[in-house]
Amino acid sequence: MLVCHCNLITQKDIEEVVVSLLEADPWQLIVPAKVYHTLKKRGRCCGCFPNVVDTIIRVTEEFHRRAGGGETEIVPFLDRVRGLRGQYGSIGHEGRRTDHRAA
Ligand code: FES
Repeated sequence: MLVCHCNLITQKDIEEVVVSLLEADPWQLIVPAKVYHTLKKRGRCCGCFPNVVDTIIRVTEEFHRRAGGGETEIVPFLDRVRGLRGQYGSIGHEGRRTDHRAA
């Protein structure tokens, strides 16, 4: 599934990059800019970022669930990762201003 129409980036591309970044450092905070930089791309309209954040959260949760580890480390880390939603918006936002009107 195509996630970023500006750069032609698929869901699978993003998932693979997030896993490779987590394999390099499981406790790093991955943000959309880091994913796009790894893919040698840049956010243009950034309307895809909420979907990218949701993918980062899902893949990071799955990665740490598979890896196991202590709940005391994982829970605060995943709270930080989920906090990205506040930074980059939700799926319904799509990068539009609040006063945006379509027609
Ligand atoms: S849709 Fe991804 S930058 Fe525009």
